[in-house]
Amino acid sequence: MKRQDYYYQKAKKENYRSRAIYKLKFIDEKFYIFKKGMNVLDLGASPGSWSQYAKEMVIDGTVFSVDINNIRIEDVVKIRGDIFNDETIYQIEKEMENMNIKQFDIIMSDMSPKISGIKEIDHSISIDMARRVFDISLKFLGEGGSLIIKIFKGQDLENFRKGIEKYFDFCVFTTPPASRKGSRETYLVCKRFSGKNKI
Ligand SMILES: C[S@@+](CC[C@H](N)C(=O)[O-])C[C@H]1O[C@@H](n2cnc3c(N)ncnc32)[C@H](O)[C@@H]1O
Repeated sequence: MKRQDYYYQKAKKENYRSRAIYKLKFIDEKFYIFKKGMNVLDLGASPGSWSQYAKEMVIDGTVFSVDINNIRIEDVVKIRGDIFNDETIYQIEKEMENMNIKQFDIIMSDMSPKISGIKEIDHSISIDMARRVFDISLKFLGEGGSLIIKIFKGQDLENFRKGIEKYFDFCVFTTPPASRKGSRETYLVCKRFSGKNKI
């Protein structure tokens, strides 16, 4: 059995919406991100396995799941929209108000561009997405919070990390074993956000 089939079958057996769950689980087991009661913003959440995992871990905390596509899981706040659209940001703010949530403890993005196969293009779109996720984090991430972002490798990868590391105690790249062989994706994991005004 191929490695990717192993994670696919495992996700199916364990009732997760996608094999991507095992990437987040790996990150959490390595960096101790999730705790009971935390509030989580999942950007690019569909089909939903990261949000499923987050909800299991935070228990009575709240998970916001944002995607341009439909999200068919229960017990999360679903917001359908493009993260580049300000209306989506307004929707997040409105739901935060409804739920009486001031800030998130974790912001995570497993967003991907539609893969063109041209690595420079995929990298550049992925960096634009990562920048947008970081801007959203400046607005919504609470002090002490964690940020996880998928990025496709390329020339601006290290510059992006350097640009944001001053806002956190630490910021490192990790590539989970569940990432497909030959994939250019990696995950930036940043912990203990110092707050945007502290810089
Ligand atoms: C790899 S999937 C995420 C898988 C998810 N983490 C899971 O565990 O099921 C990437 C998602 O990002 C979403 N996405 C891509 N660009 C987006 C954007 N600009 N705004 C919102 N969602 C976006 C796609 O629709 C897709 O559902």
